Amino acid sequence: MILITTAGKVGSAAALLLAQREVPVKILVRDPAASAGLARAGVEVIAGDLRIPASIDAAMRGVAGVVLVSPAVPAEELNVIDSAVRAGVNHVVKVTSKSSLDSPIVRRRGQAQIENALIACGLGYTLLRNNAYMQNFFMLAPAIAATGGFGASAGDGRIGMIDTRDVADVAAWIAVAPEPHAGKTYWPTGPEVVSYADAAAVLSEALGRPVAYRQLTFEQQKQAMVNAGLPINVAEDNARALGLFADGDADYTTDDVPTLIGRPARTFKQFVADYAQAWQISLA
Ligand SMILES: NC(=O)c1ccc[n+]([C@@H]2O[C@H](COP(=O)([O-])OP(=O)(O)OC[C@H]3O[C@@H](n4cnc5c(N)ncnc54)[C@H](OP(=O)(O)O)[C@@H]3O)[C@@H](O)[C@H]2O)c1
Repeated sequence: MILITTAGKVGSAAALLLAQREVPVKILVRDPAASAGLARAGVEVIAGDLRIPASIDAAMRGVAGVVLVSPAVPAEELNVIDSAVRAGVNHVVKVTSKSSLDSPIVRRRGQAQIENALIACGLGYTLLRNNAYMQNFFMLAPAIAATGGFGASAGDGRIGMIDTRDVADVAAWIAVAPEPHAGKTYWPTGPEVVSYADAAAVLSEALGRPVAYRQLTFEQQKQAMVNAGLPINVAEDNARALGLFADGDADYTTDDVPTLIGRPARTFKQFVADYAQAWQISLA
C-alpha cells in the first residue's frame, strides 16, 4: 500500500496513475468531499491534516511506501517523516526542488531541512528535485484572458520546466518499485528549456492571437502576486525565485524522466494544448 500525502497537482495525478495500475493507494486530504473523484477512481481517501501527527499515523497504517508531497512546510513534512519511521515504512519518495540551507529562497531552505531529516531518518528514500512546474502558468491565465498577455520578472531566463503529470508519473513509478532508486537524487525536467518569451510564443500560436510577455521588476512582480491574493512573504519568495530564473538558475534539462519512465517528458506545447480550456480558448 502506498500513501500519498495531499491531493494537489502532483499528489492527485500520482494517486490516479497508481489506481489505474491497480496498485493499492491511499491519499491523505483535509477535505475528502473535494476528492470524491479520486475515491471513484479507486483511491482510498483518508481525512487528515499534516499538522496533526495522530491523523498521519492513522493514514500510515499498513503502508509500505510514501509519496511525500505537500506545500513543504517543514514542521508538517517532518511530522510525516516521523510517522513513517514509527510505522516502519520501507521507502519515502520526496517531491522537492532545488534546495540548500543557505538559499535566498525560504522555500528552498525549508526543502533542504526536510531532505536532510529524511536522509538522516534511516528509511529508504528518493529525492525528486524537480525544475519549475509548467502548471505555474495557470496563475497567469486570468491576465492572459483579460489583457492579452502576462508579466513576470523572469527576464530572458530559460527554464527546463516540467509538467506536474510527469512528476507524478516518476513519483508513482519509483514508489511501486523503489529498490533501485534508494538513496538517489533525481533532477526531473521537461525536454527543453523555455523562456517566458518562448512560452508567450507557444500560447500565441495556440490562441491564434498575440500573447505578450511584459518583463517586470522584482517590486512589480511582488506587487502583482500580492494583488493576486498571495501573502506578502510568499509573494516576495516567488518574486525572488523568478529573479533567479532570470539569472539562469533553472536553465538546464536532464534525461531523468525518459530514463525513469521510458517515455519522453511532455513539452510546453503539449501542456498548453492539453489545458486549452484554462486559456479560455478553442483550439479547434
Ligand atoms: N511550483 C513549482 O514550480 C515547483 C517546482 C519544483 C518543486 N515544487 C514542489 O512541489 C511541491 C508541491 O506540489 P504540488 O504543486 O503538487 O502541490 P499543490 O498543488 O500546491 O497542492 C498542495 C496540496 O496540499 C494540501 N495541503 C496543504 N496543507 C495541508 C495540510 N496541513 N494537511 C493536508 N493537506 C494539506 C492542499 O490541500 P487543501 O485543498 O486542503 O489546501 C493541496 O491539495 C512542493 O514541495 C514544492 O516545493 C514546486
